[in-house]
Amino acid sequence: MQDLNSLKTELIDAVGAADGSEALETLRVEALGKKGRITALMKGLGGMEPEERKAAGQALNALKTEIADAIDARKQALGASELEARLLEERIDVTLPTRPETQGRIHPISQTIDEVVAILGEMGLSVAEGPDIEDDWHNFTALNIPPDHPARQEHDTFYLPGEHDGERMVLRTHTSPVQIRTMQNGEPPFRVIAPGRTYRCDYDATHSPMFHQVEGLVVDEGTHMGHLKGCLIEFCRAFFGVDDLPVRFRPSYFPFTEPSAEVDIGCTREGGQFRIGHGDDWLEILGCGMVNPKVLENCGIDSSKYQGFAFGMGIERLAMLKYGISDLRTFYESDLRWLRHYGFSALDAPSVVGGLNR
Ligand code: PHE
Repeated sequence: MQDLNSLKTELIDAVGAADGSEALETLRVEALGKKGRITALMKGLGGMEPEERKAAGQALNALKTEIADAIDARKQALGASELEARLLEERIDVTLPTRPETQGRIHPISQTIDEVVAILGEMGLSVAEGPDIEDDWHNFTALNIPPDHPARQEHDTFYLPGEHDGERMVLRTHTSPVQIRTMQNGEPPFRVIAPGRTYRCDYDATHSPMFHQVEGLVVDEGTHMGHLKGCLIEFCRAFFGVDDLPVRFRPSYFPFTEPSAEVDIGCTREGGQFRIGHGDDWLEILGCGMVNPKVLENCGIDSSKYQGFAFGMGIERLAMLKYGISDLRTFYESDLRWLRHYGFSALDAPSVVGGLNR
């Protein structure tokens, strides 16, 4: 029994000296585990005389309980101080500023493109793309603008030096060449929108040498002027968020559409304040028309079977009207104060049901 007393003192001392829960667990295994010292003594009980076994068994059980209790108590004490140490070390300074990257804004041009794509996408059109550097044929000739056509002068074209496959290269003056590429590379029906950069040699408060357009093209067997009107009236009303916005189709001319029209929306300048909606004034916002059969034929499409409509609009102009931006040049100045004021939250992606601009 003397043995047990010294074992107890040794173990209790060791428990008291354990400086962490890991050291304590090692101790527990060494004393009370399957191959532990107390467990080994318990196993030795079997070989004892009954009288001796009874006394030794009681003493061993008492020792076992005592050690287990000591370990539990030490464990709790260590746990509390370990937590306290962690809390001290892992302090968070709540006075630090928020992460700067959450302050980025979506540029009004990107926002406007996203809104246009959301509305027309809902109507079943999907996004198509074409190159910014075009050849003369895609930008002009295929669109029924022959070399000596006066429309070429109106476009103030940037020409690139040299030729490519016998064609002069240009910075595309509109997104209409994407109509040609779409029709050349697929089979009708076509339902596409093509947003992108366009270039003309012009610079003032309402013109920039680089600007953005969105092109629309719908070609199918039964497509007619009623589809064109329905699509664009619905688009204007959804984009400007005015359910009964007056929309007017005014006869016009484009070489690649026949008949052609320009679309005006109602507005008022009453009391020196400009507002979109009912009023006594009109504002031109886009060009459109039925695809000229010559253009369909230039792309190898049977114009006796297929008809289509097309439209094109300037993104900067739409953004300026909707968001009250008065000088087009500010779009490209990268002024952070301007971006914070006119920009949009990256997390609010425009959708027709969820809202276009929140
Ligand atoms: N491409 C024309 C422009 O830039 C717009 C347009 C596109 C008109 C499609 C009719 C059809 O002015």
